[in-house]
This record gives sequence, structure tokens and C-alpha cells, in this order.
Amino acid sequence: MTVPEDAVSTVLVTGGAGFIGSHTCVELLDHGHAVVVVDDHSTSSPAALDAVQSLSGRRLTAYRADLRDATALDAVFGAHRIDAVIHFAARKAVGESIAMPLEYYDINVGGTVALLRVMLARGVHRLVFSSSCSIYGDGGGHPLTEDDPARPTNPYARSKWMCEQVIADTVHRHPELSALALRYFNPAGAHPSGLLGEDPRGALHNLMPYLMQVAVGRRPRIEVFGSDYPTPDGTAVRDYVHVVEIAEGHRMALERLRPGLRVLNLGTGVGTSVLQLVEAFAEASGRKIPYDLVARRPGDVAELVADAGRVAGEWGWRARRDIGEMCRDAWRFQQLHPEGYPG
Ligand code: NAD
Ligand code: WQD
Repeated sequence: MTVPEDAVSTVLVTGGAGFIGSHTCVELLDHGHAVVVVDDHSTSSPAALDAVQSLSGRRLTAYRADLRDATALDAVFGAHRIDAVIHFAARKAVGESIAMPLEYYDINVGGTVALLRVMLARGVHRLVFSSSCSIYGDGGGHPLTEDDPARPTNPYARSKWMCEQVIADTVHRHPELSALALRYFNPAGAHPSGLLGEDPRGALHNLMPYLMQVAVGRRPRIEVFGSDYPTPDGTAVRDYVHVVEIAEGHRMALERLRPGLRVLNLGTGVGTSVLQLVEAFAEASGRKIPYDLVARRPGDVAELVADAGRVAGEWGWRARRDIGEMCRDAWRFQQLHPEGYPG
């Protein structure tokens, strides 16, 4: 399939069927970009891409391939005139990364190396990379700026930090490259239509999907990991940011790439505790969310909140949707997809 002739640009989105990738595809299509997706669907359903196309009323081109398959990846670049790449494809579960570190370094770092090689060979010089707040380690109670040191505490976070360094070294050697690493905090919510959302495959790791499944009756109750943190209610505080606004951030990044590597946080600057999120989800869903206070989860930190001043100052990007809206949107998606996407 060819891309439209009037497209603003043609963007390769790796991991485009995933939670953040699929919302970003809608944002790109809505802004006139043509989208080519490479995804092996190891943690996502191809049905997410059908939802993207229904929502935007536009077609995209999708390839099922592992990013580390250099031949397959090169063939995609050969078939399209790619202007820029947004690189989401990765594994992201902290606990799993401790259990299988080599797999994580292979997929996350190896995938990024493979992508950069093909980009350089094919003369594609614009890259937006999914980085993560997890590279900071513990926030120590203050909002984190991009100048705070990286202190990753697990293989997943280290793999993201390594990717940033791989990109930095490659940009140093190839000054024609323009790259942006977006360090996002805790993406949550869903497209307001309810057609697109978070549908983790296999074991659940994150709080919001857990709340969604308890509210819809797929799980009986939630465990709150740790109630003795030095936070107002003793439970851990995070900066939840609406996935649609994260998607907007990627589209804005693409349009603002310039030579070199820039690093920017995407967060709200507002902290929400686990118990506050439980309460907000109960209110949004009108369902009871039974919970038990249990021991801390190994590797967790007390507080991670962004200082999002730099991106606001430079681009005017500000997250405006609050926790209530994130919960209502996530709940709409869950109600329409009680068992997740089909297939
Ligand atoms: P996700 O699991 O929903 O999406 C990842 C996508 O990448 C999936 O569609 C998966 O099938 C695909 N993929 C994985 N390995 C691949 C490979 N080797 N080849 C091709 N495709 C592959 O996760 P997400 O929440 O959408 O996260 C996207 C990116 O954002 C990741 O890089 C993650 O590290 C980063 N990130 C996520 C969060 C978060 O909490 N969701 C926060 C900060 C950063
Ligand atoms: C949030 C809070 C849990 C589940 C992870 C990655 C980070 C980034 C975002 C990718 C924590 C608590 C959770 C449950 C609970 N992703 N919790 N009961 O750990 O802040 O961040 O996702 O880059 O890198 O580490 O997110 O949603 O897992 O947890 O009490 O059943 O909810 O202990 O305090 P986290 P999370």
C-alpha cells in the first residue's frame, strides 16, 4: 500500500500498536502525516491498528516484524520514503526486566541499535525516542528536571538510559542526526472515544490497568504496595499524565526536531498517591474498588513527579487533563472492551 501524496511527512512508528504508539498514530494521522507501523505484536493486538484507522478515518501501513530483524526493517525503509521515526517498540515491565535482563537489553538496546543502523544506511536523520522517568530513580521528594542525574534502579530503566547514551554517541558521530528523547512519567487514560486504550497482554504490572480490571470485575481486589512511605497518606506518589497529551507531545516533537540530541520531560508536575487514584477511579466508574494495604513492592520509589517547565517554556506543551478525566476515559475503554481488544 502506498501513502497519500499530500501527506505532510511519512513517519515510521515502531511499536505503533502499543498503548502510547496507537494514540500517537491517531494524532499523526489527524495532523496529515502518513504513518507506517512496525510492530511484532509481542505485547499488543493488531486490532489496535484497526481502531486507529476507524478513529482517524485514514489508512496506515503496518508491518508485523521484530525491530531486530535487520532485513525486514530495511525492506520497510526501502518500500517507503520515511522522513522521521518515532521509536516506541520496547519491553517495559520492571519486574520482568529483573527476571530476564538479557532479553530486555537485547530488545530495548539491541532494537535501538538495529534501528539506528538502518536509519543511517537509508539516510533517515530524524528520531523521536521513548525514554522514561524511570531513568531518574528516586525523585527524593522534589520535582525532577532534565538536569537531575540518571540513577536507574532496574534493568528496564538502565536499558532506557543506555538507549539515550547510544543515541547521544551516534548523534555525536553523525551530526546530521536530529533526535529528541522524551522522558515521560506515568501515561494513563485512553482516547476519549473509548475505542483506543491500554490493553496489556499477559501479567499485569501497572496500577491503572489493575484498577480497570477490578472495576470491571475481572479481578476481585487490588493490593496497595506500601502505606508507610514518607508521603501525605503513606502510599507512593506518581505523576500520571493523559496518554492523548503524551501523543500530542510526540507530534510536537516531530515538528520541532533539530540537529543534536535534546531530552525533555513529559509530565504534569502534579503528584497523585495510590489511594487518591483508587478513589478517583471508584468515582469515575461508580464501582467499589476493594483494596488491601500490603508490603512495598521491591524496587519502588516513594515519589516521582516531573518538573515539566522546560517543555512548557520551549513548546508551550502543558498537560491539562486531570486524574478524573484519565479515569473516566480509561473506564470508557474498559467498558467497551471488558476482555481487551479482540484477537
Ligand atoms: P506497549 O507494550 O503497549 O507498546 C510497545 C509496543 O512495542 C507493542 O506494540 C509491542 O508489540 C511492540 N514491540 C515490543 N518489542 C518489539 C520488537 N522487538 N519489535 C517490534 N515491536 C516490538 O508499551 P507502551 O506503554 O505503549 O510503551 C511504549 C514506549 O514508551 C516503550 O518504549 C516504553 O519503554 C516507553 N514508556 C512507557 C511508559 C509507560 O508507563 N507506559 C512510560 C515511559 C516510557
Ligand atoms: C504506580 C504505583 C506501585 C500496582 C512504571 C515504570 C516506569 C514507567 C511507568 C515506563 C507504584 C503502585 C501498582 C498495584 C500498587 N514506565 N501499585 N498496586 O512503577 O510508577 O512506573 O510505569 O517507563 O518506568 O517503572 O507504575 O503503575 O506500576 O505503579 O499499589 O497493583 O502504584 O507500587 O507505587 P510505576 P505502576
